Amino acid sequence: ALRGSFALKAQKADQRFQYHLQPQASYKVAILGAAGGIGQPLALLIKMSPLVSALHLYDVANVKGVAADLSHCNTPSQVLDFTGNSELANSLKGVNLVVIPAGVPRKPGMTRDDLFNINAGIVKNLIKAVADNCPDAFIHIISNPVNSTVPIAAEILKQKGVYDPKKLFGVTTLDVVRANTFVAQKKNLKLIDVDVPVVGGHAGITILPLLSKTKPAVSFTDEEIQQLTVRIQNAGTEVVEAKAGAGSATLSMAYAAARFVESSLRALDGDGDVYECTYIQSDVTDLPFFASRVKIGRKGVEAIISSDLQGLTEYEQKALEALKPELKASIEKGIAFAHKQT
Ligand code: NAD
Ligand code: LMR
Repeated sequence: ALRGSFALKAQKADQRFQYHLQPQASYKVAILGAAGGIGQPLALLIKMSPLVSALHLYDVANVKGVAADLSHCNTPSQVLDFTGNSELANSLKGVNLVVIPAGVPRKPGMTRDDLFNINAGIVKNLIKAVADNCPDAFIHIISNPVNSTVPIAAEILKQKGVYDPKKLFGVTTLDVVRANTFVAQKKNLKLIDVDVPVVGGHAGITILPLLSKTKPAVSFTDEEIQQLTVRIQNAGTEVVEAKAGAGSATLSMAYAAARFVESSLRALDGDGDVYECTYIQSDVTDLPFFASRVKIGRKGVEAIISSDLQGLTEYEQKALEALKPELKASIEKGIAFAHKQT
């Protein structure tokens, strides 16, 4: 009887933890760079999603062990491993959503743009394979500098004749996650309620939290706005410095990327109420790419919430004008790279 009751308790604990055990949908997700600091915890979080039937893990090395390890979790999705360029195409066949965290991270003293020389080429090659093997998939780009890697991806997809601007997303969810956390801490708010839109790009001053649009409505002093804005803009560097040479944000990034994946899969599955901030092709400013809050639907971006940029405070308006030249230069650098290489 004792054994029976333990078994029952274990089963209940399993069910509580695995609220996701009932398969609800069957999307295939690929992670390119899956053995890395972001890739591993991201793969774990996606393995827990009820919306995923297959998880394809691709990396240039070390992915077999990650996949073997993850595959023992008793959640429904099947885990498959793919190593090296010769297996890249197969990792992408039939996939609905591709997440790309492949590439090198920053060390103290570096800017995200210092990663351009290595990561631009990595993203270019991976996107070519995406274009050839799953041109209809949603593409989530995490690799830095996001302000340039997304324009690179767009150009490569155009060259391949398969560019759908509604399905190419630069992942800026971590900026929103950080903004929500820092605002809730500062104003003693319940975390779950707080939502701060973050627009612009994903580097330094191009990251623009619209604190005046925080939900629920909160009032900030000028000093609080200045402190919070700078902290959100420098949060990546805060982590890079704390890790002291061992890389950049991986766990919070995996959490944020998993949220963005889950939102995208819900949208693909027909949920009509999915909103996220993301860096996309856009005409809400005079720049060709700009992060905004968007409504995501079955076909990708359904609407850009451009009203977020109306009624800005003077501080936000100035910050918006100030970020444009830097973001423009990063976009142009990406586009020039994509053209030069072909
Ligand atoms: P990491 O070095 O721990 O992992 C990167 C992985 O990419 C490694 O496993 C490596 O083998 C793999 N890789 C390298 N070249 C590859 C290729 N050609 N194909 C497939 N895989 C390849 O780095 P990390 O901490 O996981 O960070 C990865 C990237 O994400 C960095 O560029 C970092 O700056 C960026 N990042 C972005 C955000 C964001 O908010 N968008 C947040 C954190 C980190
Ligand atoms: C972040 O915001 O944490 C990432 O872009 C990684 C970095 O280099 O800061």
